[in-house]
Amino acid sequence: MCGIIGYIGDKPVAPLIIDGLKKMEYRGYDSAGIALLTENDFIVHRAQGKIKVLEKLIADEKLSMTIGVGHTRWATHGVPSEENAHPHRDDKNKIVVVQNGIIENFLELKDKLRKLGHEFSSQTDTEVIPHLIAEYFEGDLPSAVRKAIRELKGAFALVVASWEDQRLVAVREGPPMIVGRAENSRDGIGSGTIAASDIAAILEHTRSVYFLDDGEMAVLDEDSIELTDFDGNAIEKEITKITWNPIQAQKDGYQHFMQKEIFQQPESLRDTIIGRFDLEAGEIILDELAPIEKENYSNFNHVLLTACGTAWHACLVGKYLIEKFSDLRVEVDYGSELRYRDPKIDERTLFISISQSGETADTLAANRTAKEKGGTLVSICNVVGSTITRESDAVIYTRCGPEIGVASTKAFTAQLAVLVLLALNIGRVTGKISKDKCREILQELIEIPQLVRRVLKQDADLKEFSKHYRDKQDFLYLGRGINYPIALEGALKLKEISYIHAEGYPAGEMKHGPIALISSEMPIMTLVTQNNVYEKTLSNLMEVKARDGEVIAIADEGDERIGEVADHVFHVPKVSEVLSPILLTIPLQLFAYHVAVHLGCDVDQPRNLAKSVTVE
Ligand code: AGP
Repeated sequence: MCGIIGYIGDKPVAPLIIDGLKKMEYRGYDSAGIALLTENDFIVHRAQGKIKVLEKLIADEKLSMTIGVGHTRWATHGVPSEENAHPHRDDKNKIVVVQNGIIENFLELKDKLRKLGHEFSSQTDTEVIPHLIAEYFEGDLPSAVRKAIRELKGAFALVVASWEDQRLVAVREGPPMIVGRAENSRDGIGSGTIAASDIAAILEHTRSVYFLDDGEMAVLDEDSIELTDFDGNAIEKEITKITWNPIQAQKDGYQHFMQKEIFQQPESLRDTIIGRFDLEAGEIILDELAPIEKENYSNFNHVLLTACGTAWHACLVGKYLIEKFSDLRVEVDYGSELRYRDPKIDERTLFISISQSGETADTLAANRTAKEKGGTLVSICNVVGSTITRESDAVIYTRCGPEIGVASTKAFTAQLAVLVLLALNIGRVTGKISKDKCREILQELIEIPQLVRRVLKQDADLKEFSKHYRDKQDFLYLGRGINYPIALEGALKLKEISYIHAEGYPAGEMKHGPIALISSEMPIMTLVTQNNVYEKTLSNLMEVKARDGEVIAIADEGDERIGEVADHVFHVPKVSEVLSPILLTIPLQLFAYHVAVHLGCDVDQPRNLAKSVTVE
């Protein structure tokens, strides 16, 4: 949840490092810092607050150095402050380090190092690392790093530098680390090598990257990258070609990344489903599942879906879909819960983990638990080469391009689309659904991107409508059946970017408690499609109206009865129940976005949140 970067080139690197940090700011943004190497010292600048504070701090400095590291932080140990900001150095000024992750045994190491005479200046776990490396440093940085990291417990990605050695060492044990050679000189900056947490920070310099795996490190020189394991043995790695262009990671005209990503959903849904089915044959084409020999579905008798946050809501929809299209028993759990219970997983379990970033610590831990218990792991992920993708037996990518806004939008609807394909695939392979039924659903699925575009046309209406809700303190979101998870998702979207309290609830549960809350001050946002529980949902809404509650309904186009019980209605095109979650999500995303903008909230970087929660 921090962004780290290192660059070694043949021109001044400070502008590159600052630029790279800006592209990673969503990973954490409570403080930032940069360290540049001279031939006998470090030039270090750090600042609390966002990157622009650091940028201002160094604006008048003449920084001609060609080797440097940078960091943008999301605090885990030590409050956001200048002295807790990275980069951190040892007290002999030999070693500088930037870290993403957590050193679980840092207090023990701090004690050991204090007894050796080391003095510390921060409350962070990270600061023990340069001190530990300095203990082993005799002029060769890679060997000192190897010795030191053997003593570290936890999850960490590091970039380490020493002005005596004039090379960079990138290390990965947990959070992501990407390295590459700068191919295209930009702004007169020539060749070089770069290490970063995130593709967006590296993309303007190279499209050919190595994703380090756990236990791997890279030694960067001006024109070479040496890949080794933690014992120093050379390793061979495949280069990954990144297709994203730099613009994709920019806002291109939208006010926020989140807004851009909401409006990208027709394309991200199209990209996610294209090439993954044969409409004529009524078949699903998911070659990614070949490693698990999808015919094995007949061996499975249990599906367990796991994720966190928004992705967990996708799991809940996945449960409805897989139950509908197969005879498999389906279970859903939070990653943070599953990893600490004793889940009944074995070789007959199809374990599906969903993660936009592929780096969520709780979801990764759940994945590892399932692996240990013999489950077959399929991950649904949006980041090529992320950890979860390399720890699963098969991966289905959501192909959304970078999702920068902390609030997940396009990745969520893409996850739903993948789950429709996966559920259909299971149904077809196990013979539960016919080709005709599959074809019928696929025919509608093909239309979904266009139907989403149609729903997005209500943006102006929702922007105007949402103005009246900026001062509300509480919301209740209701849904039934496959749309109950969308009520949860709509509530999460509102609360995480506008900080207004919102709860999602199954509509049928109103009478078991929440109805006591009804008042004219707590709007009820309700998802009402004309499915098998439509009448029951209407009666729930009548109970709300009878108690002076205000009802906002998201309903099917052509539904003329909803107006009798709802104060405000927004319509979405009527589709099969299994596809309705995708369409119903869109107005809820737009509503939450506009309320937050009306409130002047930092939509892309909400307080206390980070895009990828890589710590427990
Ligand atoms: C969703 O809007 C939130 N940002 C958060 O709940 C997120 O979905 C969760 O942290 C899981 O992240 P992942 O999909 O990258 O694993």
